[in-house]
Amino acid sequence: MPRLEGGFDESMKVAVFGAGGGIGSALVGALSEAPNVHTVFAISRQGMNGAQCVAPVRCIEYTDDNIGALARDLPELDLVICALGLLHGEGFGPEKSRRELSLENMQRVFHVNTFLPTLIAKQMLPKMRRDSKTVFAALSARVGSISDNRLGGWYSYRASKAALNMMIRTLAIEHGRRFKQSAVIGLHPGTVDTSLSKPFQSNVAKGKLFDPDFSAARLLDVIEKVDPLDSGKIFAWDGQEIQP
Ligand SMILES: NC(=O)c1ccc[n+]([C@@H]2O[C@H](COP(=O)([O-])OP(=O)(O)OC[C@H]3O[C@@H](n4cnc5c(N)ncnc54)[C@H](OP(=O)(O)O)[C@@H]3O)[C@@H](O)[C@H]2O)c1
Repeated sequence: MPRLEGGFDESMKVAVFGAGGGIGSALVGALSEAPNVHTVFAISRQGMNGAQCVAPVRCIEYTDDNIGALARDLPELDLVICALGLLHGEGFGPEKSRRELSLENMQRVFHVNTFLPTLIAKQMLPKMRRDSKTVFAALSARVGSISDNRLGGWYSYRASKAALNMMIRTLAIEHGRRFKQSAVIGLHPGTVDTSLSKPFQSNVAKGKLFDPDFSAARLLDVIEKVDPLDSGKIFAWDGQEIQP
């Protein structure tokens, strides 16, 4: 990975949440190779694959309850990427019909896709530096676009990402008032070969299932290009803006 262009500092400090996930760990790998990245804080619930935890990567474990304490221990940051997400789990998957809706599963999905990224932003945005470009990016999904929803289904996942997009927009407005060189954005990584997409990959057209390293590189291209005027927007892996 070459240096991260686009106006970032020469000695970047970066945090990736959900660093143990398919896309999260590919982002950590790519960032750790960029010559102008000083430290990558790889933040994960259960710890990382030890082989990844060598300088400039520093692995940190966290829980839902200690994000504030974790933030206090971090230095000023140039880039924060929130790569956590949930589509299916033990005994549940995305709803095909309204008959499958349940309060428990809606809460599980919203917790990971909407509430945690918002609470991470609450604690991390004040940690961003002010004297050069900064980006806070949360992994969203194209299916969170209300205007793009023609197929229906996947109620909780879609709605949790739509709500995340609204949080991103609202956070961007407040953050931009004091952090003039900042952008707060959402990113759609494409359909990527990770555990999240595994059960649904048979429907993906040939050539449309991305390797996590490919997706991570494209997402970093987008992050390089965004500026404060882009704050609050959602971008796909190819740089195209996704309408709400
Ligand atoms: N893969 C795709 O095709 C695709 C398409 C569109 C959007 N996305 C989005 O891209 C992001 C990354 O997805 P991925 O494909 O890399 O999925 P993944 O491999 O399943 O990784 C998701 C990560 O989210 C974190 N997570 C899951 N459940 C959690 C919980 N209960 N509490 C806290 N953290 C939890 C975990 O990170 P730790 O293990 O580090 O704690 C997990 O490894 C997600 O936001 C997803 O919605 C993916």
